[in-house]
Amino acid sequence: MDDDIALHGQRSAWLCARLCAELGMPGGQILDIARAAQTHDVGKYQLPPALLNKRSALTPEEFEVVRQHCVLGAQHLGELAEDTLDSSTVAVAVALSHHEWWNGLGYPFGLAGSAIPRCARIVAVVDVFDALMSERPYKSAWSLDATLGYIAQRAGTQFEPDCVDALLACAWDLPATWRTDAQSASLDLLADLASPRLVAPSPSKFVGLWPQDA
Ligand SMILES: [Fe+2]
Repeated sequence: MDDDIALHGQRSAWLCARLCAELGMPGGQILDIARAAQTHDVGKYQLPPALLNKRSALTPEEFEVVRQHCVLGAQHLGELAEDTLDSSTVAVAVALSHHEWWNGLGYPFGLAGSAIPRCARIVAVVDVFDALMSERPYKSAWSLDATLGYIAQRAGTQFEPDCVDALLACAWDLPATWRTDAQSASLDLLADLASPRLVAPSPSKFVGLWPQDA
């Protein structure tokens, strides 16, 4: 499961860079949000593996535990931010708010609309896109058609409509190899998607971010 969390983060970062470019965001912001997307589920490392690997539906009590990964991740990244991450504000906001819904029915706080940080609204869309397109212990991978249909139906309820439009605009152009492309992309490659003015971050800033690096 640890690998699944890390690879989902890597693919989310790669997709996020494309979606942000589609939204016309400047390069520095693209890299900040992509980097934050990479760590959005870091709080799951603190959950019981048996819950993450469960092959059947979670009970309401189990789901309450899983929901805690947002706050746990934000706390973890906040502690790291003191001396390792420059983009701490974005990373913490994304970890905390990527399960909030545009209509206020998400978690952990039930924020709605513009009260949800924009970076988290963007990551929310790519998070669900990659989750549906991926095999999980409790489900098989969905097709691109089914995934985009699901997300389009939730524009204005779960997701910010502009973010859904941007995903729909770029998702059909994804190469067939996008998953492996994303998993092998380095942060330098992500930087290449951003502004040429951007200076790529030092990899040392990410030491200790994932448990296997510690
Ligand atoms: Fe999550």
